[in-house]
Amino acid sequence: MQKTAIHGLESIAESLSRYDLSNTTRNRLGEIYHSCELSQVNTFKLLEQYGITPLVNEQVNQMNIGDLSEYYDLILRDWAWDTTENPSTENQNALKRVISQIDALNIKPKKILVLGAGAGRLSWDIHSRVKPEISVALDSHPLMLSISDWLIRQQQPIALGEFKIFPQIGFQSGQVHTLTPPADPENLRERWFGLGGNIWHMPIQAGSFDMIITPWLVDVTGGDVRDLIGVVSNLLAPGGHWINTGPLLFTRHIPVQIKYNAPEVKEFLALSGFKLATENVQVSDHLVSPIEARGRTEQIWTFTACKSETPDASSVDGVIVPWLVMHHLPVPPSNYSTKDKHPLIGTILSLIDGKRSINDICAEIAGRIPEGITVKDAVVTLLGQVIAEESDNT
Ligand SMILES: C[S@@+](CC[C@H](N)C(=O)[O-])C[C@H]1O[C@@H](n2cnc3c(N)ncnc32)[C@H](O)[C@@H]1O
Repeated sequence: MQKTAIHGLESIAESLSRYDLSNTTRNRLGEIYHSCELSQVNTFKLLEQYGITPLVNEQVNQMNIGDLSEYYDLILRDWAWDTTENPSTENQNALKRVISQIDALNIKPKKILVLGAGAGRLSWDIHSRVKPEISVALDSHPLMLSISDWLIRQQQPIALGEFKIFPQIGFQSGQVHTLTPPADPENLRERWFGLGGNIWHMPIQAGSFDMIITPWLVDVTGGDVRDLIGVVSNLLAPGGHWINTGPLLFTRHIPVQIKYNAPEVKEFLALSGFKLATENVQVSDHLVSPIEARGRTEQIWTFTACKSETPDASSVDGVIVPWLVMHHLPVPPSNYSTKDKHPLIGTILSLIDGKRSINDICAEIAGRIPEGITVKDAVVTLLGQVIAEESDNT
């Protein structure tokens, strides 16, 4: 990214040194140059403060992980766009969506975990409104984490530029924003923690939180929503609440089979022992910059689900056993048997102890599966056959 940014700046600087530009063109390019240069310098200075040095790594370049700039607009939306002359109301609305759920249920969470907290604004706004004992804002993105810590914990401002590549009539091509730290007269930041981590390898003990919030996350993890429900269920204490808010705009490379709709997600919740407490759907502006004539609206589904005190799964039409669909649930012991003489089946059945889930079994046998076969598919198919045979025999 640094290389691309420097190359882009050099190219604009080269154009600005030419003799064939009118002042109008020069001003437009100047605005863009200034915003880009400022962002580039300040972003890398900030990362340096946190000991993060961007390195070119060809292997990483080839992975489809998105670059540092992917979520840049989220930073501006969180910390700049509502301080302009024509303020954005997106942060305010995002907070309202969550607080209205908490108020409707009349709950007072003590330990809040926000997964995929991005640049941190929503987690901070919730923290300063609800005043829990602690809030943890987890994200895997180094720039997002650095920005949120810098503004919230360090209470330091940072100037970042915004520029538009499509000229729009009556709008500037670039603008410099000074992102200012949020006011914190009660020193609540002492109980707000940014945490770098991957939701698929969580560095947190089971049952540690009584509220988990996933804002605009379920569709961008690259994984299966069912597994995310497993992660949330594991981290949430019994009786705890999960608030999800965001669209179902699954990333393009996700197969259609796991681009679940809301009724499917609700079935997964029921199968996992969650009770849906409240939900609503709103259509709202998304990432509409004050220096942007173009608009974007998205449908936002917000729900709260309560994790049962006892692990009771509700029944769902067509589902023989919940643990076959929700792979984090323990597989109950039984006298499973099958006519299938597949060599793996004995190993899989021997691992069923009433505690292990399909995910656990997969982790144990991962190294023993022939190349080209997905472990999860193999285990689910074989156990599915066992269960189907069993239900045919009863
Ligand atoms: C669409 S953004 C939403 C950010 C923020 N919640 C908001 O509403 O502005 C999704 C966020 O999830 C984070 N994320 C995606 N996959 C993740 C993972 N596996 N572990 C941790 N964070 C992840 C991204 O880095 C990004 O900040």
